[in-house]
This record gives sequence, structure tokens and C-alpha cells, in this order.
Amino acid sequence: MNNLSDFMLPPAKSTVAGQTDALFNFINVTSLVFLIGITIAIIFFAWKYRRKSEDDVTPVITHNNRLEITWSVIPLILVIIVFGWGYTGYMNKATPPDDSYEIRAVGKKWLWEFHYPTGHVSVGELHVPVDRPVKLVMSSVDVIHSLYIPDFRVKQDVLPNRYTSLWFEATETGESVVFCTEYCGNAHSNMMATAFVHTQQDFETWLANAGSADDDLPPVELGEVLTQRNACTTCHSTDGSILQAPSFQGLFGSERPLESGETVVADENYIRESILNPQAKIHEGFQPVMPAFAGTLDDDQINAIIEYIKTLE
Ligand code: CUA
Repeated sequence: MNNLSDFMLPPAKSTVAGQTDALFNFINVTSLVFLIGITIAIIFFAWKYRRKSEDDVTPVITHNNRLEITWSVIPLILVIIVFGWGYTGYMNKATPPDDSYEIRAVGKKWLWEFHYPTGHVSVGELHVPVDRPVKLVMSSVDVIHSLYIPDFRVKQDVLPNRYTSLWFEATETGESVVFCTEYCGNAHSNMMATAFVHTQQDFETWLANAGSADDDLPPVELGEVLTQRNACTTCHSTDGSILQAPSFQGLFGSERPLESGETVVADENYIRESILNPQAKIHEGFQPVMPAFAGTLDDDQINAIIEYIKTLE
């Protein structure tokens, strides 16, 4: 069945993926067998019992007990198999092991944030150890999102005002794509992240150094890295084109019309305020959809982003 799985499904990289794929393939193959069998029977009977002459009369047949029991009992057995199989798989996915490593996931329009037990926050990057159950405790700050990692065969809605969770145990190191699969607005299709699966040791090293690797970068370079990592560029272009928000190009020092009718100069303080509290001054012609980065970005990082925006003339 391996080749069939590879043809139809992404690589299976978690402990639950095998069971999910086996059930998926069972349903598909069973359906295919019935599709072919029923189609052949229809064509054969249509040919065999075609009207051969003008005075051909259809015989009156009311029922056939043996036939009717057969075509009821066989599908019943099949759906009971699918239910039992699906139920055990669902319960397995719904019950994280007690020793799971816990990471908080936050969905925002339009990025994924991951909070680790050390206090480190990564945006757009989910780092996990291999061969260890990981539980994501998830919530949204705005609308309904849905976190989906196809390689791990896990997907769960992420809601405002409520925690949901999912768990997985990655079986090999490498990278996998994380999608949002609940339509959440203009940039929904760009609301992606990457799951990095490390060895236990590499994961600990990564977590210990997380964040500090950037300290050596000059502010402008750090700012560029941060605007990409925090998904700013999903909505703010750097080449003057208009996406969901004003472009960063030519922003610094320019006069900006606000929805309130006032005008502000986009200086350091305006940009800082707009990062920490985006709803404070809404740019004319744009929706107030940006999430607040207070608590996500510190002063050094905000400085770096401002220095980077200054270079985009
Ligand atoms: Cu978030 Cu779609």
C-alpha cells in the first residue's frame, strides 16, 4: 500500500499517520471495488435485459429476500468496520499522552505564534523534538483559524475565547508545512508556518539559544529578518505594492492620512505605537485587522524594524 499512499498523500511523519492512512486507503479501495463492480453489473444487466421485441413484457418481481439481506448486511459490516477503526483513531488523536511536551500556539490574522515553556516565542516556526509526544494548546486572538500539519495528519480548529488542543509525535527529523485551514480573511492562504523536527539534543540546543542568535546582527539586517519572521510582509509589501496594509516602502517620514480625518507623520513613535497597539491610529482606506505585537516584540526588536523601514525609501 506504500506506493498508493505516496501517490495520494503527503509523507507520513508522525506516529498516528500510519493508522490514518490505512483507514483512508481502506475506504478508498473498498469504494473503488464497489464502483467497478456496480458499474459492470449495471452495464451487463442493461445489455442482458434490453428490450428485444415489441411484445417484450417486464415480469412482475416483488422482492428477493436472500438478495436484499446480502446487499444490506455487507455494507453494514463495512460501515461498522469503518466506524470502529475511525473511532479508535479519533480517540487516540484526542488523548495526548501524559508526558507530552506542551507548547502554546496562538493564531492571529495572519500568523502563527508558538510559546515555549522557557518563555521564548517564535512566529511562523514550530520547533519540536523527534520521538516525543508534543501537545499544542491553542487559542486565537481574533477569528476562527485551524492548525493543520498534513505530514503529521493532525488538524484542529483554533478559537477565540476557548482553548483547543492537538498532539502528535514526529517520527523523523526534518521540516513540514503548517497551514491555516479555516478561511480567516484576505491573507488566509498565506497564514503558514514551518514545523522543524529536531533530535532531542538539537531541540534543547535550539531552545537554549533561541532568540540570542540574532543579537549579533546589525539593526537593519535584524529588522529585515524580524519583518519576515513575524509575518509583517504578509500584509506590508517592501516594494510599494498595496496588499492588506500600507507598503513599508516610502513609509518612514511620510505624512499619513488617518480614518479619523487627521494626518500623522510616520516617525519612530508612530511606527512603534502601530506595532504595539495597531488600532490606535488606523490608516485611511485600510481595515483595522493587524494583531498587536505588545509582548511579542521587545524594544530592541522594534528599534531594528524601524531602522529597516527607514532604509526602504
Ligand atoms: Cu487563519 Cu485561515
